[in-house]
Amino acid sequence: MTSALEQALQAQVEELKQEIASLKERAAASQRVESELRQSRKMLQLMMDNIPQVVFWKDRHSTYVGCNQNFATIAGLERPEQIVGKVDQELPWTQEEADWYRKCDAQVMGDDEAWLQITESQTTANGKQIWINTNKVPLHDEHGQVVGILGTAEDITSHVLLQKELREKNAALESQTDALAKVQRELMKSNEELEERVRARTQKIEDQNQQLSSALAELSNAQEQLIHAEKMASLGMLTAGVAHELKNPLNFVLNFSELAIEFLSDLDEAMAASVGQIPPPVGEVVGSLRENMVRIREHGARANDIIQTMLLHSRRAPGERRPTPLNPLLTECVQFAYQGFRTKDQAFNLAIHTDLDPAVGEVSLVKQSISRAYLNIINNACYSVREAQKQLRGSRPPELWISSRLRGDAVEIRVRDNGLGISPEKLKRIFDPFFTTKPPGDGIGLGLSLCYDIIVKEHGGSMQMESQEGAYAEMITTLPCKPVEKSP
Ligand SMILES: Nc1ncnc2c1ncn2[C@@H]1O[C@H](COP(=O)(O)OP(=O)(O)OP(=O)(O)O)[C@@H](O)[C@H]1O
Ligand SMILES: [Mg+2]
Repeated sequence: MTSALEQALQAQVEELKQEIASLKERAAASQRVESELRQSRKMLQLMMDNIPQVVFWKDRHSTYVGCNQNFATIAGLERPEQIVGKVDQELPWTQEEADWYRKCDAQVMGDDEAWLQITESQTTANGKQIWINTNKVPLHDEHGQVVGILGTAEDITSHVLLQKELREKNAALESQTDALAKVQRELMKSNEELEERVRARTQKIEDQNQQLSSALAELSNAQEQLIHAEKMASLGMLTAGVAHELKNPLNFVLNFSELAIEFLSDLDEAMAASVGQIPPPVGEVVGSLRENMVRIREHGARANDIIQTMLLHSRRAPGERRPTPLNPLLTECVQFAYQGFRTKDQAFNLAIHTDLDPAVGEVSLVKQSISRAYLNIINNACYSVREAQKQLRGSRPPELWISSRLRGDAVEIRVRDNGLGISPEKLKRIFDPFFTTKPPGDGIGLGLSLCYDIIVKEHGGSMQMESQEGAYAEMITTLPCKPVEKSP
């Protein structure tokens, strides 16, 4: 019996020992777990305390449950544990900030949705206002129920201040740009005004220049005309003197050549009566003598013509001016000149383009002189086109244009031909007496000089030739409509 009891007791003791051993084992295990838990909590706290962000977490009522060292420092606490059980209103933030934080907490927990990147202000324990970028995420229990929130925040004060500074600088820059643009606008405006003034002044100077150069041109023109008139006057006197001196000896030459021809006729008759008594060479000599005498008479007559023209030039009696229809006079001159050329050369054909202004009417002029002048001008044109036709072997048909136009107080008459034209050097000399480019017998160079006397001096008109050598020549003349005083 005893042994049975002992055995049962022994078994119970054994059981108890085993239970104690297992209890000891479990206690050791739980101590290990607890130490590991402490360790990992410490590690977590260490990590949280060393990250640059602030970290905090709150329960369902927005009461702080924990935070890291950074948050504790901002909140003015020495250690993170001191936060436990505190609410935002007890911390250094302003009332407004605290209310806002709690409002955000309520929304995150109510919606069960994280709210990230909230930029908000925070007043720290030392009274400084900083700017933080906060993230708030809801915390859940094992059943998925929201039990609080976890918040992380980063100090972005320097960034915000930089942005603010940037904004301010930008605004300052913009206002400076505005001011600059205003200055630029004003500058442009004054520049435009300046340019306008410069333009106006330049225009004024150009106008003055224009006036000056036209006055200069008029002056040199007047000077040229004066020199020309002087030259013409002295040449006229010389011409008159020479012509007068030559007139008498030339008359002798003409008269005696005439007489000699008559004597030769008598001699011919006498010789015919005494055929056979006179040796044959005498007959030949008499024949040659007759030919020579005829030549002397011909050339003497030509020289007489020249002398007559010269005398006409220098001693022309002033005619009486009468109102004369100008257009018919011009047509007459053209026809007369053309017929003259046609008589000498039947093959000569000229296309005449007439463009006479009916408004021209009557002009006060000395008809005989003016006819002589335009006849010479048209003769010159006909001569030139005929020569050009010869040179070009008919490849350019001769043409002549004659026009009249009423221009203010004057009539402008243009005679143009498509003949030889004239070089600029020769053009300067065409009004000089005895200037001619024609071969002896075709011209003596007094035509245009006479025209000048008639048109410019006698009638107060003007004469000017335009030409391109080998292409055309155009004589532009004007005659005043009103009677003018004859220049001396
Ligand atoms: N239409 C013209 N085309 C080309 N040259 C011309 C023309 N008219 C005049 N000339 C030039 O001007 C020169 C002078 O002309 P101007 O009438 O004074 O004398 P001219 O005709 O030579 O002789 P004349 O005393 O017989 O008229 C001419 O020899 C010629 O060289
Ligand atoms: Mg002539």
